[in-house]
Amino acid sequence: MEQKQTSRASFGGSIGFVLAAAGSAVGLGNIWRFPYLAAKDGGGFFLLVYLVLAITFGFTLLTTEVAIGRFSKQSPRTAYSKVKKGWGGLGILSTIVPIMIFPYYCVIGGWVLKFFIAFLTGHNLEAAEDGYFTGFITDQYEPIIMLFVFILICAVIIFMGVTSGIESVSKIVMPALLLIIIGIAIYSLTLKRTDADGTRTGLEGLKMLVVPSFEGMTLKKFCITIIDAMGQLFYSLSVAMGIMITYGSYVKDDNNLVKSINQIEIFDTVVAFLAGVMILPSIYVFSGPEGMSAGASLMFVALPKIFAQMGFFGRYFGALFFLMVLFAAITSAMSILEAIVSVFIDRFGMSRRRSTVLVAFFCFLIAVVVCLGYNKLYFEAILPNTEPGHNAQILDIMDYISNNVLMPIVSIATCILIGWVVKPEFVIKEVTKNGEKFGRKGLYIVMVKFVVPVLLLILLLISFGIIKF
Ligand code: PHE
Repeated sequence: MEQKQTSRASFGGSIGFVLAAAGSAVGLGNIWRFPYLAAKDGGGFFLLVYLVLAITFGFTLLTTEVAIGRFSKQSPRTAYSKVKKGWGGLGILSTIVPIMIFPYYCVIGGWVLKFFIAFLTGHNLEAAEDGYFTGFITDQYEPIIMLFVFILICAVIIFMGVTSGIESVSKIVMPALLLIIIGIAIYSLTLKRTDADGTRTGLEGLKMLVVPSFEGMTLKKFCITIIDAMGQLFYSLSVAMGIMITYGSYVKDDNNLVKSINQIEIFDTVVAFLAGVMILPSIYVFSGPEGMSAGASLMFVALPKIFAQMGFFGRYFGALFFLMVLFAAITSAMSILEAIVSVFIDRFGMSRRRSTVLVAFFCFLIAVVVCLGYNKLYFEAILPNTEPGHNAQILDIMDYISNNVLMPIVSIATCILIGWVVKPEFVIKEVTKNGEKFGRKGLYIVMVKFVVPVLLLILLLISFGIIKF
């Protein structure tokens, strides 16, 4: 079907694009996964590996998707076939990914909202009690109400459009997020506590993040660090789910893409690092190095307990923290919603308003099923990558299929398309079309043709449990 040619929305300027893309990239992954991995995988050593991968692996994927977007001026469903006829199937696959992610990401967004409200209204001590989080997610109604509010916020932003919605919200929320996280990080460094085990300070906790630890370093541990860093980076940059293609399609032709891509990467990495500076010292001071955990249990169980120990400031500190996480979650979720909505606009010629309402409504229904996975529809499933003792729910299954299976496949296929079918010159031409200097050109070619697809294939085989460490 021919797409309806209406004049395409665009970001007003490169700052708007950078902040919107950084808003998508900076999300729960930066806050609940990065600090945990850094602490687990040798602190400064993990940081170093992560940085090297960011300027090679991450840069390649991000450049590729943004360039495909700006070249095609299409959302993911139709973008690939504009690049090369016959590759529409990849467009379908990369549209399925955000459709799978959006509902469960919003469920988690609802949890963040609940905790923000709890701290704001002074229920911070209750939130620290054992069983508070489990009690909340197993409740039949409350998570659905929170989910509804969260989706509504995202839908209103997307409804308002690219410039007045996405761009203006990103321009306010992202600087605010940065300020809050810097503030909390500084406060976290000043923490100090004395108990039976002696005195622990925030600065000592920072060592878990920055000092390279080669203790017990083996080849196996080395490989695990690289795999962890790669998986984290992949998720953190919001690639392989059509988002960067969609946002790239709103970038004006005279914008310097090379510069913008560098800025997005720097923003994402700085926030991940600051999240480490914020979380690791607090965990270290209040529960010792063993207190570190990842995922929902860090954010909704361990941290509220820590805020409770902070005394008077704990409540405000916690409210600010959850507000910051809420900002991160909203800007990520709205980018996923936009990727889906833009497909309906481009592929079916639907109006933005209609398609936003439709998509948000159907995703809400799917998300309700995800919520019920913790009570009415509870079951116990084991996935290849689940930790012992942890049963996978509907949310984990959707997360596994999208992140561990579909996303690597989409990115491998994209690398084959760009590296081997249309050739890397395709992307190079797009990013240098105003005479920009593309410093890492040679690197880009080698990465997109060989290194990135091979690394992603390894990641995929690990997800399937075919390669085991
Ligand atoms: N990149 C986001 C993060 O680091 C996660 C995300 C996932 C964003 C899916 C958009 C879509 O948390």
